[in-house]
Amino acid sequence: MPRPWVALWVAVGAFTGAAACGGDSNPPARVVTIPDTPTATDSTLPLRVLAPRRNLLVGSAIDAGFRFTGSDGVEFKGTMVTQFNLLTPENDLKHDHVHPQQNVYNFAPADSIVAFAAANGMKARGHTLIAPTQVASWMANGSWTQAQAQQLLDDHVTTVVSHYRGQLMEWDVVNEALADDGSIKPSIWYNTIGRGYIERAFRDARAADSTVGLFYNDYNIEGVNAKSDSVYAMVQDFQARGVPITGIGLQSHFQVGGVPSTMAANIARFAALGLQVHITELDVRVPLPSTSSELAAQAQDYATVFSTCLQYPACSALVMWGFTDKVSWVPSTFPGWGDALIFDANYQPKPAFGAIVNVLK
Ligand code: G3I
Repeated sequence: MPRPWVALWVAVGAFTGAAACGGDSNPPARVVTIPDTPTATDSTLPLRVLAPRRNLLVGSAIDAGFRFTGSDGVEFKGTMVTQFNLLTPENDLKHDHVHPQQNVYNFAPADSIVAFAAANGMKARGHTLIAPTQVASWMANGSWTQAQAQQLLDDHVTTVVSHYRGQLMEWDVVNEALADDGSIKPSIWYNTIGRGYIERAFRDARAADSTVGLFYNDYNIEGVNAKSDSVYAMVQDFQARGVPITGIGLQSHFQVGGVPSTMAANIARFAALGLQVHITELDVRVPLPSTSSELAAQAQDYATVFSTCLQYPACSALVMWGFTDKVSWVPSTFPGWGDALIFDANYQPKPAFGAIVNVLK
């Protein structure tokens, strides 16, 4: 007999609300039989069934702007709702998307993702409130006094967090504020407000939602280095002064073979501060055209990240930055590199998928 929660998931059909995120008709429901305990056939089970057994949420980024039609709609949404129990809007909650003019908010695209997640029994992360880049041009190119910029930051964070109050498990409150040497990057926020903009965003977010998780999210902080040292010092300072922070997001955009050897030690030190440490944007790019040996090495990297995360209760969510090589930011940003995700462009599982299943078993 399926366990009650699994029966519920099947009853939800895992596909209701699909039209909210892509515009085409719902694909047919599939029935998945879930054994009570791990078995030799677990390799056929979806990640969203295996991961909760290890107290892990497993997720993907999704862009509401990508419209899926015909068989792609069936495969994309079918794979997404079958495999994942956590979604993150890839772009639709960024300042320039959600707040395109000073007095105009555009919540509809992100709303559709959040509704899609809820309809399919998935949780959602908010990405992201304040970042040096992806700031709407009216804000980025404006001329503001410190007081005006503080008010604009307050308005943005308060409005967006309030809109989603009770619907998200956590927010990336501030994203990519630091440079690799640990200093604060120049940005419209830093240049006008000073370093206090970071804690201001956290305080505003907590005032707007008393329970949602509040994360600092960045890349190149997966291992122990100058940048993660700076995040560590910032968090200690926040905790000492009562600035609300729940966790750290380790983005984890890796080149094949590039998982830092100090990742476990780094997670451990942040967890020891009482923080959640979530993997928020995992992908592992390989040189194109990819070879079977590169894909095997990629699978090992995915397995390493999952097994490292599973060592720490604080690492209770792991999000990949997409799931099919058909849709990824990598090839346009790193020409000659790609195939960074766990399903190929035809939605077939790659060796990395099997490696993750083996770790979760
Ligand atoms: O939607 C337009 C499309 O209409 C137009 O034809 C096309 C032409 O370039 O651009 C499309 O917009 C692109 C958008 O992604 C949607 O695909 C933007 O140019 C492109 O700059 C944007 O890139 C996003 C990038 O952040 C910058 O915002 C990526 O999708 C997104 O994956 C990436 O995500 C970031 C995280 O937020 C933070 N961590 C790093 C990660 C990867 O860079």
